[in-house]
Amino acid sequence: MGMSEATARRIEPQAAALQAPDLTIVIPTLNERENIAPLLQRIDAALAGTRWEIIFVDDDSGDGTPEAVRAIGRVDPRVRCLHRIGRRGLSTACIEGILASAAPYVAVMDADLQHDETLLPRMLGTLRNEPYDLVVGSRYAAGGGIGEWNGTRAQISGLATRLSRLICKTQIADPMSGFFMLKREVFEGAVRKLSGQGFKILLDLLASAQTPPRLKELPYEFRLRQFGESKLDTMVAWEFGMLLADKLVGHIVPVRFALFAFIGCTGVVVDLIVLWAGLNIAHISFLAAQTAATVVAMTSNFFLNNLFTYRDRRLKGLGLVRGLTSFYVISAVGAAANIMLATNVYEGHSGVAGIAWLASVAGVLVGSVWNYAVSSIFTWKRR
Ligand code: GDD
Ligand code: MN
Repeated sequence: MGMSEATARRIEPQAAALQAPDLTIVIPTLNERENIAPLLQRIDAALAGTRWEIIFVDDDSGDGTPEAVRAIGRVDPRVRCLHRIGRRGLSTACIEGILASAAPYVAVMDADLQHDETLLPRMLGTLRNEPYDLVVGSRYAAGGGIGEWNGTRAQISGLATRLSRLICKTQIADPMSGFFMLKREVFEGAVRKLSGQGFKILLDLLASAQTPPRLKELPYEFRLRQFGESKLDTMVAWEFGMLLADKLVGHIVPVRFALFAFIGCTGVVVDLIVLWAGLNIAHISFLAAQTAATVVAMTSNFFLNNLFTYRDRRLKGLGLVRGLTSFYVISAVGAAANIMLATNVYEGHSGVAGIAWLASVAGVLVGSVWNYAVSSIFTWKRR
């Protein structure tokens, strides 16, 4: 008998076994206070006869959501709140909620009553009695629906769904669903490979699982939100794009570096345009034109990277000024390294055919890796 088993034995094994839940429902929340009580009522009714628990994972909502959950938890031990401070993210909220549970079956669902809780017992029955590892509440399977969404949102969701299917290793009608249940082993098998980026935890799971899970979809009608508002914004779209790109090409080249390098290329174009304008329109000296071109190109690189590459760490206000300054310094050192290396290679091998090109490419490569590595540490610090 191991130490932990001995300890566990001391706390009334029978009572403990009666209370241990078969199903954990993980519910991420951000400002959902008014939805908590009605949601609990509905889940309790739907799951009568099942031993369940709910873990709300709240990212420090300011509207009293965690307090509302804890108030219920004081009288109902099946309900608790994993309160995260200084953190954000729907995917990581789900991951940490699942990791905080021990139940053999785990479900993820939204707090806003948009997901049909009456599906829960059927999901559980399917996992228990049929050869499936994962059951997904599907808006796009026959019999499901997206409720009363307007045309644009329906179109965007449809497009994102088709894109997502590219990176899934499994056939699925609704890979973007936020409503699903799975066996805990399946989750544990994939958890170390999850990217944790953004909103799409199911998609992440499907793209990361080593062996595709045996999956069944149950159709349901996506309901309209009654209280509170959706947290879907451009940041969510950006994270979705990063997740797709990461799963598609991330094993070849890191997505952020690819973006940074691409923006670097646009910088070369900007540089040449300003140089040309300086020489041919403003008729200034080459030195002046080249200096202006470099500064404009660095500035445009900075703002584009701030908007796209590092959208999740975007600098604003005073941080923008500080960031731009550090970016100038870093880029200047990068440019110096570039020129020195290229000159060195060129002079060391003059006479070799094509050496000028090779030297120049080597310089650009080293310069960009330097800029990328150092700016990711000093300009766009991880928070
Ligand atoms: N902890 C935490 N942290 N929770 C969050 C965060 C966050 O950063 N962002 C959103 N949530 C919670 C919300 O409070 C809600 O309970 C749930 O996650 C979904 O957020 P919504 O803002 O309601 O998203 P949606 O309705 O537009 O989209 C949802 O449904 C779609 C269809 O199932 C999401 O689940 C999508 O992933 C899903 O595709
Ligand atoms: Mn919602």
